[in-house]
Amino acid sequence: MNDYPTLNQKEWTPQSWRTRTALQQPEYVDLLKLEKCLGILRTKPPLVSKGEIDRLRDELADAAQGKRFVLHGGDCAERFSDCTASVIESKLKVLLQMSLVLTYGTRKPLIRIGRMAGQYAKPRSNNYEEQNGVTLPVYRGDLVNATEFNAESRHTNSQRMIDGYHHAAASLNYLRALIEGGFADLHHPELWNLSFMESSPNRKAYQKMVDAINDAITFMETIGHSDDSLRRVEIYTSHEALLLPYEEALTRYSADHTPYNHSAHYLWLGYRTSGLEDAHVEYLRGIRNPIGIKAGSAMDEETLIQIIDRIDPDREPGRITIITRFGADNVSKQLPRFVQAVEKSGHPVLWSCDPMHGNTETAADGLKTRRLDSIFSELEQTFEQHNKLGTFMGGVHIELTGEAVTECIGGSGGVTESDLHQCYETACDPRLNGAQALEMAFLIARLLR
Ligand code: PEP
Ligand code: CO
Repeated sequence: MNDYPTLNQKEWTPQSWRTRTALQQPEYVDLLKLEKCLGILRTKPPLVSKGEIDRLRDELADAAQGKRFVLHGGDCAERFSDCTASVIESKLKVLLQMSLVLTYGTRKPLIRIGRMAGQYAKPRSNNYEEQNGVTLPVYRGDLVNATEFNAESRHTNSQRMIDGYHHAAASLNYLRALIEGGFADLHHPELWNLSFMESSPNRKAYQKMVDAINDAITFMETIGHSDDSLRRVEIYTSHEALLLPYEEALTRYSADHTPYNHSAHYLWLGYRTSGLEDAHVEYLRGIRNPIGIKAGSAMDEETLIQIIDRIDPDREPGRITIITRFGADNVSKQLPRFVQAVEKSGHPVLWSCDPMHGNTETAADGLKTRRLDSIFSELEQTFEQHNKLGTFMGGVHIELTGEAVTECIGGSGGVTESDLHQCYETACDPRLNGAQALEMAFLIARLLR
């Protein structure tokens, strides 16, 4: 237990983070322009509503009790240029396919959370990047600057926060329109692109699952149960709460004086900005949205408990998801200590596994990549460790795109190390492509059945 006054005891405001050390923030040179942009953002309507945020928290509370399962996925760094019909459709399609397979595997209702419609700010290991003798500030996400390697692009521009808000709004609007318009209708066979299965050693097992899912849908219809549940799904949005001026400007008080962040339903505390006394923990402890906390090898379990104590002093079910990202080589050694400490603390957390961020490596040609084998191995080990400890893996957190990129190695589609350069488009970390993501869902479903 720490002796830091909790929210009820100590004043919190949307600005109180400003008195703390804020890591990973860009430097805004033109402070007048910054204030002007934040002033405009403060007048903008919420992107998501209090009712939706509260509903997600309730659903996550169910997941923490094993009654639901969470699929949290999407881009590492969304780009403003990703705000197109086809990119949004293909990403939603992958998430829906995965969630169907996972529903089959877990036999539980799924909670779908997209790293979508606002995942525009990135933490970076270095402040500067050097190319051919030229040194420039790093790219920190479209909310801050642009990827192109020139001084103009890398300049921190506060107008981008307003542009980010509008791109998030347009993306979310299209997501909602697709769902309302029946895109999630399970009867559309074109939802399934299973060509990757042809060359898979697991082809039979995958085909069996698809047949079983299709049979179940047909059966439901035959008995007259073809209600809305086969046509409509919920999808929630999320991003890393990194760029604090932006998050602050989209924080509003509800009629009962409760602060909510209205830029997304769900926000998470990044691994690099989780200092207990620092600005990000201070900001996140005050808002009512459900919060994810990334945990991995560089953190110790005592610190994690202190962070949870501070963000969730009331031990509220659904408030905290711990998203573990230890890497396949460390997870079995390190996860148990964390689980035991959290169990002892009595916080009713939901455990999710991010098998991506602890498994990043550099390929021979210098490109960052991840191997499907390591990704699945971390999931498998996490699942086993929770089983041994009497807790459970209630969700997965995956970086993916619907596009046919070649950023991660492995899977039945046969992306090899030498293929990486063919379609390597990520602005930050390597993502699973649509086929790899769906294959991962089949593997997870087999594991969880
Ligand atoms: C991310 O989720 O993109 C990320 C940067 O993860 P982490 O904070 O766990 O490194
Ligand atoms: Co990432």
